[in-house]
Amino acid sequence: MRVDRFLSNLPRFNRKQVRLLLVERRVSVDGVTVSDPHHDVREFSRVCVDDDVLQAGKPARYFMLHKPQGCVSATADPQHPTVLDLMEEPGKDELHIAGRLDFNTTGLMLITNDGQWSRRLTQPQTKLPKVYLVETEQDIGAEYAATFARGLYFAFEDLTTQPAELVLLGPRTARLSIVEGRYHQVKRMFGHFDNKVIGLHRERMGPLVLDPALAPGEYRALTDDEIRMV
Ligand code: URA
Repeated sequence: MRVDRFLSNLPRFNRKQVRLLLVERRVSVDGVTVSDPHHDVREFSRVCVDDDVLQAGKPARYFMLHKPQGCVSATADPQHPTVLDLMEEPGKDELHIAGRLDFNTTGLMLITNDGQWSRRLTQPQTKLPKVYLVETEQDIGAEYAATFARGLYFAFEDLTTQPAELVLLGPRTARLSIVEGRYHQVKRMFGHFDNKVIGLHRERMGPLVLDPALAPGEYRALTDDEIRMV
């Protein structure tokens, strides 16, 4: 949100006062004085007017985890272990998952407390590719690639999937790149050809690639460069 809007949303300042505070250089965001009314204030920013703290700010946290099979990508589950159970982090309940995976799907999971950042990764509009290695029960037909590139109609959601790219790696293995994350999307795409997906692994989400040093079940914090890439 713009800093002028952030300030004028508070009951203590009207718009005119906010303009003045900025001109008088009395406002700081994350310790830096700001006078530009467009300056971005995020939920993690610390905002002060003079010495008054208007929003304390908190650290944004970002992790990549190699999801193993047999765990749920939810923050809590009554029956099964969850990906958050694999993490030893204080304040885990503030974290959420950017783009879920099915129970038996493996691979890259991104976990954060930054909702704007995770939305940029997962919203179909940003068109960031999610790349999967797929193994199927039957041979993958030569016609699949063109069908996936055209898009498939999903009656339940009443939508046509965005163009997806399929590269065959073997008779029953392929790399599929999709820009959305509809419910069971990959399985439903292959299901269109009555071909069951028997192995699914996410290698990449947008610019972020699963670190090969992470064994299934392991995780690490993202680097500053990785966070900025999204
Ligand atoms: N598509 C699926 O069908 N399952 C996943 O886990 C991810 C994408």
